[in-house]
Amino acid sequence: MSENEKQKNHKLVIVVGSVREGRFGPVVASWVAEQARVHGGFDVEVVDLGDVEIPLSLPAESPKYAGDSYPRPAGMAPLTSSLEEADAFVLVTPEYNHSYPAALKAAIDWHFTQWTAKPVAFVSYGGAAGGRHAVLHLENVLTELHAVTIRDGLAFPNYFTAWEDGQPLDPQAPGYAKTLLDQLAWWAAALSTAREASPYPA
Ligand SMILES: Cc1cc2nc3c(=O)[nH]c(=O)nc-3n(C[C@H](O)[C@H](O)[C@H](O)COP(=O)(O)O)c2cc1C
Repeated sequence: MSENEKQKNHKLVIVVGSVREGRFGPVVASWVAEQARVHGGFDVEVVDLGDVEIPLSLPAESPKYAGDSYPRPAGMAPLTSSLEEADAFVLVTPEYNHSYPAALKAAIDWHFTQWTAKPVAFVSYGGAAGGRHAVLHLENVLTELHAVTIRDGLAFPNYFTAWEDGQPLDPQAPGYAKTLLDQLAWWAAALSTAREASPYPA
């Protein structure tokens, strides 16, 4: 790793994956962003899918091959640039019917190269399973996009009793977040160096 690479803060995009009225997602995402700022290894941006125009109907062509000419709606442009500029992602997801929200799937499907050869970590929440079914599905999907998924995630079971005043009650949660962010930072540096050295053969 070069000296420049060591000094550079990579861009972390934290995605709020739920857009439901009365959702809890932004609370979790704010806490993750706070942990990432304390960690210090990233420039942090929170992207809320609730603020983005994400139609379910996709264009005829594939975003994998269309490149910049892919006809995305104007209201999606800020999301696309954030994903494009990101060196690493944290997807914050609840569990809906043993999977993740449709808005998050649509946001993923409108893009392709923006995910490729970049690391993705997961923070989930829900009932007894803490969103783990959602994360298992996301891991499969992100692999198809040539993203690298991070093993150590955070899951918050029964979040409605496990959080107070915007913070998880588990005193170990910040430590788990640090482990996740350390792994994400390692991959962000490694993959950003690799992308600069040569195009990923997707
Ligand atoms: C359509 C729907 C399906 C759900 N299915 C599950 C589920 O399968 N497992 C689970 O643990 N929680 C489930 N829940 C509960 C959610 O985890 C909980 O409502 C959570 O707050 C959703 O995140 P949000 O508030 O950010 O939308 C479901 C909620 C909704 C709205």
